[in-house]
Amino acid sequence: MSMSGRIVAQVIDSLKKMVAIGVTTKEIEDFADERIKALGGIPAFKGYRGYPSSVCISVNEQVVHGIPSDRKLKDGDIVSIDIGVFLDGFYGDAAVTISIGTIDKEAADLIRVTEESLYLGIENAVEGKRLYDISSAIQKHVEENGFSVVRLFVGHGIGRELHEEPQIPNYGVPGQGPRLKRGMTLAIEPMVNAGGHEVIVLEDGWTAVTKDGKRSAHFEHTVLVTQDKPRILTKNN
Ligand code: MF3
Ligand code: CO
Repeated sequence: MSMSGRIVAQVIDSLKKMVAIGVTTKEIEDFADERIKALGGIPAFKGYRGYPSSVCISVNEQVVHGIPSDRKLKDGDIVSIDIGVFLDGFYGDAAVTISIGTIDKEAADLIRVTEESLYLGIENAVEGKRLYDISSAIQKHVEENGFSVVRLFVGHGIGRELHEEPQIPNYGVPGQGPRLKRGMTLAIEPMVNAGGHEVIVLEDGWTAVTKDGKRSAHFEHTVLVTQDKPRILTKNN
């Protein structure tokens, strides 16, 4: 899993450099698809339950599962890119939200708070804690900052399958849920809306957008639970 995770991290690093004003989401898809394969991985999302592309690219009010298209990124957009890689029997999964050109304060705060909430969640991925310690740490930080956590989608266990037990909601009561044990691998992924938490899935069957049209951000890492510091598998050190 550390090897599939490393490919995810490397591809995200390269993407951060190529994503810019005027780039289409299909160009991001093609670049990521090629990089994943060049590094020896298999794109994990393509064909998963019929998903048509190798990455999910969600712009502004799109929450998750945006399908790459001819849409050109504009100054002021925020774009969430979600990548999964399969390598030698194991999966890695991560997402980031990137700003395009100059973004307004609300968007900058949304991105910052969402990423902070991911790391606060990860801090709780420690043996002996409970699953919803992760969830509640995320929810608390998001809501303290006036944003809302999406409820329709959740994080998940990951390993030999892309989606395994348990589901990891981004909201919950601390001290509850299954006990965390060393060796568990979790995809923790706060999806955070600037407005209300409600989302709608479009006619394409995939693209999730906010009901109120306000923007949304998404950060995700695949994390290994240990007896002390959580190990982030989708991060370059
Ligand atoms: N990171 C997302 C998830 O864990 C991406 C899945 S997209 C799909 O659900 F296309 F694979 F469904
Ligand atoms: Co995921």
